[in-house]
Amino acid sequence: MKPSDLRGILTYVPRYRERVFVIALDGEIIADDNFPNLILDIAVLWSLSIRIVLVHGAGHQIRQMAIETGKTISNVDGTGITDKTTLDIALTAANRLTHEIMQGLTVSDIRSIYSNAIIAHPLGIINGTDHLFTGKVERVETGLLEKILANNIIPIIPPLGFDGDGRTYRVNSDSIAVAVAKALGASKLIFVTPTDQLTKNGQRIQQFPVAEAEEYYRSCKSQIPENIRSKVEHAILACRDGISRVHLVNGKEDEALLGEIFLNEGIGTMIHANEYQSIRRAVKKDAQTIYSLIKKSVQSNELVRRSRAMILQQISDYYLFEADRLVLGCVALHEYPEDQAGELACLFVHESHKGTGVGQKLVAFVEKIAREKGMKKLFALSTQTFAFFQQKGGFSESSPDMLPPARREKWEQSARKSKVLFKDLTSSVVPTPVP
Ligand SMILES: CC(C)(COP(=O)(O)OP(=O)(O)OC[C@H]1O[C@@H](n2cnc3c(N)ncnc32)[C@H](O)[C@@H]1OP(=O)(O)O)[C@@H](O)C(=O)NCCC(=O)NCCS
Repeated sequence: MKPSDLRGILTYVPRYRERVFVIALDGEIIADDNFPNLILDIAVLWSLSIRIVLVHGAGHQIRQMAIETGKTISNVDGTGITDKTTLDIALTAANRLTHEIMQGLTVSDIRSIYSNAIIAHPLGIINGTDHLFTGKVERVETGLLEKILANNIIPIIPPLGFDGDGRTYRVNSDSIAVAVAKALGASKLIFVTPTDQLTKNGQRIQQFPVAEAEEYYRSCKSQIPENIRSKVEHAILACRDGISRVHLVNGKEDEALLGEIFLNEGIGTMIHANEYQSIRRAVKKDAQTIYSLIKKSVQSNELVRRSRAMILQQISDYYLFEADRLVLGCVALHEYPEDQAGELACLFVHESHKGTGVGQKLVAFVEKIAREKGMKKLFALSTQTFAFFQQKGGFSESSPDMLPPARREKWEQSARKSKVLFKDLTSSVVPTPVP
């Protein structure tokens, strides 16, 4: 990463502040030489006020301990039968790993806690086979985790679950990560794996929607390295369960975690749920968001300067474009009832979503509202974006004489010398929504 990448990173920081990221660490990663770097990356995320929950596996260590002690174990990943010997080894391995993670975080001055937030029940008897001490997540103690996070402490969750009678079960860590992410409404679930990202025809799959990921999993299962197959399966489950972004990152690669989160093109593979997009009317508490959103365009003179108070005063004129509950764009419709005219103003799209059709959706939306309100004409004033209105919005350049008198006066007083763009709404052509 270069220092100049910080500028790009800065655009993500306000969007991620106070959001929950669940990071699922494979046991093999904790044993890797790159683990101290990974802890530093986690410390960076934490310092940006991202709420981190760490879930870890222990399969690698369970296998190692079984070899060292010469004991026979019944499974390593918490999905098969867990007999008493395997449970004992799992307990020792998991506790040691939790401790190691805590040690790493302590070096970065981060407080962490070992939490018993996973309430588990036995997996039970399946096809006549008793799975003994293998458990499944029954419930996540959400309140406990929220309290820990609110105190700026990182909860560490081992691949174990507890029941009300004090029994402990070995639970698969991928399933715990999904359950925790779901319970906390996490913005991201990140599987840090010991293998490289997913590929198709030799090319890295940068991102795919969950439906495509499912198809890939069905048709290319044998090509997916065995040690990340369960992660891919759980990533799909998580997306289907409402987690909008699930990432697979190779934890053996330096900077992979930060690169995946903050670089536009990522470094690993992201599986995403279909984005929930909507345009809604702004309310009072959105004034600050609008003010911050358009700041850069005001500085570059694309948009006219508006104070927070001015925005607040006309807040009901503003509409916001949201994806996954993040505000990514705005527009305003100022009415001139006496002239049966409306001004489309303050059109702005966040850098991350430019060129994805949001600007045209906002223009089409305002045009629809203006028509519904019985307006006969729509106009916009622009110094740098007039070509967009002409080519993408069907506006034509016009004389300032066409402006409502009150607006014309303001135009004359302004030194901006904006071009005036008009659209006649008396025609029956209704704007077609942009796909
Ligand atoms: C102008 C703006 C709203 C466009 O939003 P967007 O979501 O990126 O636009 P869309 O994705 O809907 O449309 C992209 C198309 O518009 C074109 N476009 C974008 N900005 C343009 C401009 N200034 N002039 C001409 N065309 C432009 C793109 O080239 C692209 O064309 P293509 O589909 O033929 O490839 C956005 O760039 C922005 O916020 N700009 C800064 C603020 C601003 O200037 N606002 C207008 C104030 S009057």
